[in-house]
Amino acid sequence: KMSKKQYIMMESALTARDRVGVQDFVLLENYTSEVAFIENLRKRFKENLIYTYIGSVLVSMNPYKDLEIYTKQHMERYRGVNFYEVSPHIYAVADNAYRSMRTERRDQCILISGESGAGKTEASKKVLQYYAITCPASEHVQTVKDRLLQSNPVLEAFGNAKTLRNDNSSRFGKYMDIQFDFKGAPVGGHIINYLLEKSRVVHQSHGERNFHIFYQLIEGGEEDLLRRLGLEKNPQQYQYLVKGNCPKVSSINDRNDWKIVRKALSIIGFTDDELLNIIASVLHLGNVQYGGEDSGSAYITTETQIKYLARLLGVDGTVLKEALTHKKIIAKGEELMSPLNQEQAASARDALSKAIYGRTFTWLVNKINDSLAFKNASVIGLLDIYGFEVFQNNSFEQFCINYCNEKLQQLFIELTLKSEQEEYEAEGITWEPVQYFNNKIICDLVEEKFKGIISILDEECLRPGDASDITFLEKLEDTVGGHAHFLTHKLADGKTRKVMGREEFRLIHYAGEVNYNVNGFLDKNNDLLFRNLKEVREQKKQKKTKICKYNISGLKSTQFKNSLAKLMEILMSKEPSYVRCIKPNDAKQAGRFDEVLIRHQVKYLGLMENLRVRRAGFAYRRRYETFLQRYKSLCPDTWPNWDGRLVDGVSTLVKHLGYKPEEYKLGRTKIFIRFPKTLFATEDALEVRKHSLGYSQKTKYRKMRQSAIKIQAWWRGILACRKAKRRREAANTIRRFIKGFIYRHQPRCPENEYFLDYVRYSFLMKLHRSLPKTVLDKSWPTPPPALVEASEQLRKLCMQNMVWKYCKNINPEWKHQQKMVASEIFKDKKDNYPQSVPKLFVDTRLSEFSDINPKLQQALGNEKMKYAVPVTKYDRNGYKARNRQLLLMANSAIIVEEGKLKQCIDYSSLKGISVSSLSDGMFVLHVTCEDNKQKGDVVLQCEHVIETLTKVAICADKMNSININQGSIKFNVAQGKEGIIDFTSGSELLIAKAKNGHLSVVSIAVEINLNGCLSRLFFFFLTEIMNLFLISQTAPRLNSR
Ligand SMILES: Nc1ncnc2c1ncn2[C@@H]1O[C@H](COP(=O)(O)OP(=O)(O)OP(=O)(O)O)[C@@H](O)[C@H]1O
Ligand SMILES: [Mg+2]
Repeated sequence: KMSKKQYIMMESALTARDRVGVQDFVLLENYTSEVAFIENLRKRFKENLIYTYIGSVLVSMNPYKDLEIYTKQHMERYRGVNFYEVSPHIYAVADNAYRSMRTERRDQCILISGESGAGKTEASKKVLQYYAITCPASEHVQTVKDRLLQSNPVLEAFGNAKTLRNDNSSRFGKYMDIQFDFKGAPVGGHIINYLLEKSRVVHQSHGERNFHIFYQLIEGGEEDLLRRLGLEKNPQQYQYLVKGNCPKVSSINDRNDWKIVRKALSIIGFTDDELLNIIASVLHLGNVQYGGEDSGSAYITTETQIKYLARLLGVDGTVLKEALTHKKIIAKGEELMSPLNQEQAASARDALSKAIYGRTFTWLVNKINDSLAFKNASVIGLLDIYGFEVFQNNSFEQFCINYCNEKLQQLFIELTLKSEQEEYEAEGITWEPVQYFNNKIICDLVEEKFKGIISILDEECLRPGDASDITFLEKLEDTVGGHAHFLTHKLADGKTRKVMGREEFRLIHYAGEVNYNVNGFLDKNNDLLFRNLKEVREQKKQKKTKICKYNISGLKSTQFKNSLAKLMEILMSKEPSYVRCIKPNDAKQAGRFDEVLIRHQVKYLGLMENLRVRRAGFAYRRRYETFLQRYKSLCPDTWPNWDGRLVDGVSTLVKHLGYKPEEYKLGRTKIFIRFPKTLFATEDALEVRKHSLGYSQKTKYRKMRQSAIKIQAWWRGILACRKAKRRREAANTIRRFIKGFIYRHQPRCPENEYFLDYVRYSFLMKLHRSLPKTVLDKSWPTPPPALVEASEQLRKLCMQNMVWKYCKNINPEWKHQQKMVASEIFKDKKDNYPQSVPKLFVDTRLSEFSDINPKLQQALGNEKMKYAVPVTKYDRNGYKARNRQLLLMANSAIIVEEGKLKQCIDYSSLKGISVSSLSDGMFVLHVTCEDNKQKGDVVLQCEHVIETLTKVAICADKMNSININQGSIKFNVAQGKEGIIDFTSGSELLIAKAKNGHLSVVSIAVEINLNGCLSRLFFFFLTEIMNLFLISQTAPRLNSR
């Protein structure tokens, strides 16, 4: 259900259209009616809606007040949105052109036209600002942007002036290319200027001024600058500035503008003051006065001016003076200087001023172009050019301007029709021919070769004989007199004659009729400048300045025609957008809608024609997706979403809405609607639907919102609970920890349980990370007091495990060694033990086949020999040394001399073995005395004592019976008699019977450092390995963990 308030809102939305009009003229029901057109303009103007479309053409009304529609927010609003989705705006046009350039890679141009004061220059500045602010930028780009923006105040200072119609009227046409790089950043620019109104330099109508720059220089110029230029701070002093009688205007602040211009000049890159020299010279030239009789030759009365001029222009004073008072004529092939009378001299002077200023302006534009130059860019062109001009008295300038507009109109019609036709074709809709006025006939009338008005004018200027403006008019009557768009006083009917002068011809332009007065046509076309003045300029050029380049490229009108042709070429190669400016009144007043004036402009801008072309077929067209998106709520089948093809959706929708077949057509991507009323009916239905839909949607929305809030609340609750739980747990842990720390030295109890567990855990974890990796690594983390015992156990286990692993991987040969037995017996006890460590034990030192006598072998029979070694035996009494062999058998040790078995010692009767602790090879085998077969203990010496004794100990199983003695060994000689061996160490091995009857053995003291550190290390390592063997023998086998 709808409330009353909603009904009122809805109604106001429906009537809004009546109040503010339509934002696109194509939506006017009665599109051929000028009254309806102007009414729509009026409605919108009243609401400060200054912009309205005709399709893609923007019509702009000058508000004559600052509207809040050019802010950065506005720029953002128009950036990247569809042209039609937002209200009409100059930014929409700018953005549309920019996007087409970026996406379609096609150069664009924006054509701005309208009467003087209609807001063309303002519009072009708005476009430029839009790009400067919204386009991407870099540092380099910033300087270019600055220069682009600053070119405006400079050009305006030199090319704009106060006129009756506009306080800042552009007195030249301007086409400006803005160049963009591939990233879309503005990177350069190029300006072409057209037809500067030079006559303003020497003469201004009442209430008008000369170009701004003169006043700015005089009002704003610094003291010493003015002194240097010889200028006074008073515009009234200068003939060229007093003609219009209004040197000061309230709306213009020359002094401020001067500062802006100076700054802009320096940003663009003008550094020298040459430009100002020329501006000052023009003022001085204006003050040059002549004296003399009316008919006699003129002479110059103002010497100071000549002095300043000569200096500022860099020319010779006398030459200048002569040039200003004489003209050069060529008679019979000879050059003669013919004096001028006062009037002629004055016009020669003015001609020079105009020429100088005109060329300076062109030079300025070139200089700006140099500073903006960039290559290989996409381009958006901006054309700010005078609109149709019709005055009481129209002359050569109006003729050119109106011709220019005629050409632009031709271009417009051609391009609009072409693009319309192309669109229809692309959409597959049959093109219905449009009736329009083709103004080619008028363009031809003006520009056709040999037969056109311009050709005739040139011919008159160039032909020998007395040509004058009147002969020109007659020639026109002769040549184009029959043309439907041409009339003169003579050719006109009685009624028309009344409103035409005899010196006028009339052109019937597409926009209306204009009478042109032929007075001055020839002179202006000649761009008159006496020859010797040209020479002064030539001289000047050679001498100093680059500004005044002189070149003749035809007569003025032909030059203009050619430059226009070039402009058309430029525009044709681009995709155009149009801005048509209208001024609401002549008084520059805000809010005043002068209907007569506006109707006049609507006519001259050809807006009705625009509209007719645009409305020829269909009033409205939109892409399917846009159309469906907007209106889908009006049909149950398309609401809320249409899943099928867009065209089917739109077709379903419009059928549901009751569109009749003649009211619309479906193209390939767009729907075309013929009448605005069909669209309005749909819009109104949408308005109604919006409100009902709005209500139900609102209720639905509220419900959804409440549900969402509920879900959110629950979920937040759950998250908070989880968080609180975690926090609680964390606090508990910390608390337990602190308590545990306090009780850590107490026996395990509930208070320290957690802490101790943690300490154990962290020790074990630390251990796990830092277990020793090799058997030689003795590092081990310090355990906490509670774990000392366990740590020790673990350390052993770990070591055993590593050892076991080490041994598993050890060389098999080593495993069969009896080294560990040797180690157990001799390590740290006998000096030459270390020497034996690196040497492998061998199975035997004597070969059974080559070293042992065969006879003995026979005697031994099958008994297996376990080890054999050469030894030295010392007699028990005389200690005589004899070479013997020691053989170890299964049950006995045998001492052999050659083939003879000398002595056999049963292992059972072997009581023990004695050796010294020194590094000698002596050893004594002690034998039991009961055995009668024995002759007593045996004293032997052997090179491989450690090896030999180890073998003996193993074979006889006498590991524990080896005695290592310090100093001396006692032994049984026989039947209770005792012998003694004394051991000492010395530098030389010596074994001999001493005087006391003892056997004295001097053994070599073992030098530990025998082979240097390396061998010591090696010993150490081997000893360690020995140890390991021992351990591995005793250790239980652990698995690798
Ligand atoms: N959009 C606007 N908003 C506010 N004021 C504007 C706007 N457009 C124009 N004006 C006012 O109108 C004056 C004249 O505008 P502008 O100089 O652009 O006219 P023009 O069409 O270039 O005229 P001319 O052909 O003489 O150069 C401006 O100085 C400004 O005061
Ligand atoms: Mg302008």
